[in-house]
Amino acid sequence: MKKNSKNRKYLIVGSGAREHAMAWALSLNPYTQKVFISPGNFGMTFEPKCEIVKFSNFEQMINFAKENQIDTILVGPEQPLVEGFVDLCKMQKIDVFGPPAKSAMLEGSKIFAKNLMKKYGIETARFETFDNFKKAADFLSSAGKYPIVVKADGLAEGKGVFIVQSYEEAMNILDLLFNKSKFGKSGEKIVIEECLQGYEASIIVLSDGKSFKPLISAKDHKKAFDNEQGPNTGGMGAISPNPLLTEDDMQKLEKRIILPTFNALKKEGLLYSGALYFGVMITKDGPFLLEYNVRFGDPETSSILFSLDTDFSTCIDACMNGYLEKLDLSWKEGFSVTLVAASKGYPDKYEVGYEIAGYKDFIGEKSKNNLSKIFFAGVDYKDNKLVTNRGRVLNIVSRGKTLEEARKNVYQDIEKIKFDNLYYRKDI
Ligand code: AMP
Ligand code: GLY
Repeated sequence: MKKNSKNRKYLIVGSGAREHAMAWALSLNPYTQKVFISPGNFGMTFEPKCEIVKFSNFEQMINFAKENQIDTILVGPEQPLVEGFVDLCKMQKIDVFGPPAKSAMLEGSKIFAKNLMKKYGIETARFETFDNFKKAADFLSSAGKYPIVVKADGLAEGKGVFIVQSYEEAMNILDLLFNKSKFGKSGEKIVIEECLQGYEASIIVLSDGKSFKPLISAKDHKKAFDNEQGPNTGGMGAISPNPLLTEDDMQKLEKRIILPTFNALKKEGLLYSGALYFGVMITKDGPFLLEYNVRFGDPETSSILFSLDTDFSTCIDACMNGYLEKLDLSWKEGFSVTLVAASKGYPDKYEVGYEIAGYKDFIGEKSKNNLSKIFFAGVDYKDNKLVTNRGRVLNIVSRGKTLEEARKNVYQDIEKIKFDNLYYRKDI
């Protein structure tokens, strides 16, 4: 993007609430003329400057970007990053926010990430890696301590991590991954690691390829059910800032995990302009890194961008033009809380196609008069109705001067949203 261009056009790749939040935040800048989202979802079209566009391959998307003089492409989800979309854009001299394929391996392969952490002394859970059932089973028969964590190496939409309580349960998971190919190629290699105790924090860090800047912290809620019960999901709710993260823990995290990571990326030639997400466990011995994501998190991004006071479009401009170091990030006072309204049964089996009602006060211009805002995810438009079409249907986010106030607001407003089989956690 030309620095501080006054006629900005963006193309966002993705279709979830994260991409909706990014599109909304970019469109707040008066210089933003248009935000295209591909493939997007119908809910995004309620934003005045947003338009959804559909392509069947990367090449079509790149041609569109060239023909429409898109300033910057932003990639939301991990899949296109791991598949090398950024590399293709760069070959065509298109500005793109996100990592090339070799850096995206930080998320694309847990083994790659864990080996990097080990090589550079970045605190993480002790681990072993395996590429077949027998070796993993042999290891487990002598690994006495449970719970233990089994992770598919490759991408699995946040569902490839299992915290197992017994040897029998662990063997079932190995069987699912190696013999029943539950995650296809992603599960052909695995990590088995020690289970850490503590509380989790999500820290998303912006980078311009030279310097980096952490955004406000967040707390994700990955389990499907209240009180951290049930299977892992892509995320069921997020609070920002993370109410549990102390100043002291944040300093340790920066010193022991974030800074050494950026030094490691520099040495390995993996730095990029984009976002790097650190999923950490704060234990009684300090912070340990669970994972990297090479993108913004979902649902964290809804809460983070709702709290951001600095113009988001300028943040992206700073990452694309190398002046991030000079950029001051400021945040609104208080807390933002996001609830994910899901289809009951997610992340396993669920039904879709139900009409959504009660959302109109929380979208487009009307949302300006409201404390809460909706970012849509799994929705479609059929027979003149907005309907559910995936597991995570929409995010609703609200603010408050205190966490209690933000919670009260968001739980009050989600009551106004109606669709059959609506499910959300009551304890975010
Ligand atoms: P990951 O995709 O590696 O972040 O794992 C998904 C979720 O599984 C994390 O957010 C944690 O809730 C949990 N998890 C992953 N690794 C561990 C670990 N070593 N100890 C405890 N919980 C873990
Ligand atoms: N909320 C976690 C993620 O985006 O992977």
